[in-house]
Amino acid sequence: MRRLALACLLLLAAPALAQDVVLPEAGSVSREEGLAAFDRIHAVVSSPRCANCHVGPDNIPRWDGLGLGEDVPHGMNVTAGDSRIGVETLLCSTCHRTVEDGPIAERGAPPHVTTDWRLAPVEMQWHGRTAEEICAQLSDPDTNGGRDWIELAEHLDEDGGHGGFIAFGFDPGPGRAPAPGTLQEHIDDMLTWGAAGQPCPGPVGAVAVEE
Ligand code: HEC
Ligand code: HEC
Repeated sequence: MRRLALACLLLLAAPALAQDVVLPEAGSVSREEGLAAFDRIHAVVSSPRCANCHVGPDNIPRWDGLGLGEDVPHGMNVTAGDSRIGVETLLCSTCHRTVEDGPIAERGAPPHVTTDWRLAPVEMQWHGRTAEEICAQLSDPDTNGGRDWIELAEHLDEDGGHGGFIAFGFDPGPGRAPAPGTLQEHIDDMLTWGAAGQPCPGPVGAVAVEE
């Protein structure tokens, strides 16, 4: 909670007073710095700890980056279906039981978090997409759950505060490589990228994501 709550309170009240977290002002960050922040964001979201759930319309979670080979579909013929939570076949939470405290992850066992385990909505696909495509998706409220850049950072902060999927990605337990950096750095990068106007790599306006 500490990570962003203070900044938001102060934003409503008096932004200049921010002490713990400095919320950058929109337009205060150069395009260059924004692009550098996006590079770091991309390294996180394309890591297996995030992309294994942010998959495309085949609805099949991935087991990439677990030492089982490259580009490996989830074992045991698991599919999430269009529901993205396995309602059509077997609920994800049958194995990935929901827990009350923080994430529990043991190598080889299904990770457990405080939220019912499921795939991200299909429009939030990162697996198999280029940095340009992910950037377009992440900056478009039509495909990111209706969030502006501050709300994206709040989403990360809120998930981290209750031990959800993102907390798991940065702290996945033994035998799994975590997403690069820390959750705090990822939140800061999201704010830096946002304050720069969410610039995307490649020619300006060149990429549109199909829905
Ligand atoms: C039959 C039990 C079972 C079911 C049902 C199941 N999983 Fe899993 N899942 C596992 C196991 C076991 C692992 C750990 C594999 C490993 O670490 O080698 C795992 C790992 C994963 C991972 C990889 C986590 C990582 O570290 O990157 C994802 C993503 C995942 N499951 C998604 C899902 C989704 C989404 C559903 C529902 C559609 C689901 N699983 C249903 C057993 C299950
Ligand atoms: C167990 C599956 C799972 C894992 C692992 C996961 N996510 Fe997600 N993610 C979701 C679901 C479900 C949503 C939809 C929730 C919502 O929009 O409120 C989501 C939505 C998001 C969003 C909202 C905006 C958007 O366009 O995607 C962000 C940002 C996000 N996740 C970041 C991450 C990051 C960073 C990681 C890795 C550190 C990660 N997620 C790992 C399931 C997952």
